[in-house]
Amino acid sequence: MTRNVTSTQQPTILMCPPDYFTVSYAINPWMSVDRPCDVGLAKQQWLTLRDTLREKAGADILEMPAVPDLPDLVFTANAAFVYQRLAVIARYKYPERQGEEPYAEAWFRENGYAVHTLPRHTPFEGAGDALIWKDETHEPRVFAGYRTRTDIAAHSLLSSQVGLPVLSLELVDPRFYHVDVCLCPLETGDLIYYPGAFDEYGRTVIEANVPAHRLIPVSAEDAAMFACNAVSVGDAVVLNQAATGLIELLKARGLRVFPVDLSEFIKAGGSAKCLTLRVA
Ligand code: ARG
Repeated sequence: MTRNVTSTQQPTILMCPPDYFTVSYAINPWMSVDRPCDVGLAKQQWLTLRDTLREKAGADILEMPAVPDLPDLVFTANAAFVYQRLAVIARYKYPERQGEEPYAEAWFRENGYAVHTLPRHTPFEGAGDALIWKDETHEPRVFAGYRTRTDIAAHSLLSSQVGLPVLSLELVDPRFYHVDVCLCPLETGDLIYYPGAFDEYGRTVIEANVPAHRLIPVSAEDAAMFACNAVSVGDAVVLNQAATGLIELLKARGLRVFPVDLSEFIKAGGSAKCLTLRVA
């Protein structure tokens, strides 16, 4: 870390370089210790993502240092839920990731955020499981996932800590174990989602809270290519290059779309959005 975050309008994204990234345990269906990733290629892919976000999407990128034996620290989306200058720090479900919590907390304290934590036994996986949607006519609201990683009890605590309504969505397909792999609010006010990752009631909640013309449902094929795990900065969208159907759809809507190859991170169950955390 070289400097503090200032409260400017410049979109600012926190990333963590993949210095120690690898697949050494399996805590989601995408991971297998028998299918190791190419760590050299992962480093190249991460640099391309970072430079695309900076140079094409116009985001300011901050980096938190990587830590040995914490391979998933690279997925900064999970570090915390950030709203304005407030950070609610993750409580990881699996012991494999719990060692990340103090590093996230330290980063937010050092960078001048008000830091909130949840009780030890309330799993909550940060912005991986809680996403803010807003458009020009509606109040902001949080779509939050539960059951696979985050406990539903975290949702009401989050709501009272940040003062935003939280809409709880049960995640019913183990492949889509965080809400940010099956739902993606865009800064334009649109919302990408994979209907098959939710139950009927969850779909009803999404469709009742976002105007129909704003909804962008994706196919099962695109969802499996991490289409919903996109990074939205203004009218730019950065996402995995294999999500070809969605890429065409977004271009047709007039968005600037920047596909990047993130094959090695998908072996850990993450893609573009998981590797980023919007902190301003
Ligand atoms: N291997 C990581 C895990 O299972 C991937 C995290 C992906 N992050 C996300 N925001 N979806 O926790």
